[in-house]
Amino acid sequence: MSPFAVTRTLPEDATGAALRADVLEGLSGSPRTLPPKWFYDAHGSELFERITTLPEYYPTRAEREILLARSGEIAAASGARTLVELGSGSSEKTRYLIDALTGLRTYVPVDVSESALTRAGQALVAERPGLDVHALIADFTAPLTLPGTPGPRLVAFLGGTIGNLLPAERAAFLASVRGLLAPGDALLLGTDLVKDERVLVRAYDDAAGVTAAFNKNVLTVINRELGADFDPAAFDHVALWDAGQEWIEMRLRSRLAQTVKVPALDLAVDFAAGEELRTEVSAKFRKEGVRAELEAAGLEPARWWTDDAGRFALSLSVVR
Ligand SMILES: C[S@@+](CC[C@H](N)C(=O)[O-])C[C@H]1O[C@@H](n2cnc3c(N)ncnc32)[C@H](O)[C@@H]1O
Repeated sequence: MSPFAVTRTLPEDATGAALRADVLEGLSGSPRTLPPKWFYDAHGSELFERITTLPEYYPTRAEREILLARSGEIAAASGARTLVELGSGSSEKTRYLIDALTGLRTYVPVDVSESALTRAGQALVAERPGLDVHALIADFTAPLTLPGTPGPRLVAFLGGTIGNLLPAERAAFLASVRGLLAPGDALLLGTDLVKDERVLVRAYDDAAGVTAAFNKNVLTVINRELGADFDPAAFDHVALWDAGQEWIEMRLRSRLAQTVKVPALDLAVDFAAGEELRTEVSAKFRKEGVRAELEAAGLEPARWWTDDAGRFALSLSVVR
């Protein structure tokens, strides 16, 4: 294997077909919704990286604090020779794990964003001679085929990205991750924790408007890929806390009554003034809830760490 390989695990038009199916279903339904994976074209991935540096967006800093303090323990408990990372993005925090895993041979970042994978993969092979990087352009909510790399494997799912899945999707996702793991393998899961509503809402509605631009980027993606005529300026960014579901919702609220055309789908969508389109949920967790969801998937969270302020948690489940 060359030190850096990128593999597309999806058939050529799978992304386009999936976008068409998701947009048709999501814009035809009531309430209207879109899955968050479509934020992440090259521009969306860049905007997300800017979000991670904002003063209001604590999750990245909190998770980095835990990784900095605990990567040695995680490495000792897993002894991984292959690190698989789902939704790897920039792989920035992952460097703590890569450095701590002394027997690591191969890093397998998995993401829908080809630009993020290429940039992160090229930087890593330059920085870490001897590390094979085998990037997979793939949707982690679909069945995954991992390269035949040496075990034990550590599968990392960081950033609180699991909170972007709805509860039934999380159950299916965790069961499919469990299916990838053999005895001796482990799952490292990052989960953002329930906290003060004002702190949560600010993290998704920053003063500089970067999250608003990220949210509206999905409209630009649909315009470019499906020939739609969304006017991003005709929608407002909305972030609100749903206390019953314990999740943040990001929405786009139509500023006026308008009709948006999506020629590739032969679709015209009428938005009433004030009508909202849900673009993301970001669930926040409690320790018992994380444990219950992992156990339901046949995983046993043996370790649980939080940052000093108790904002974010990492759990490690080792398969026996
Ligand atoms: C919230 S960001 C987290 C990035 C990074 N792990 C971190 O902690 O900063 C979510 C990442 O998952 C990727 N992603 C979102 N949905 C995905 C999907 N269904 N399959 C694969 N990657 C996905 C995005 O492209 C993005 O890089």
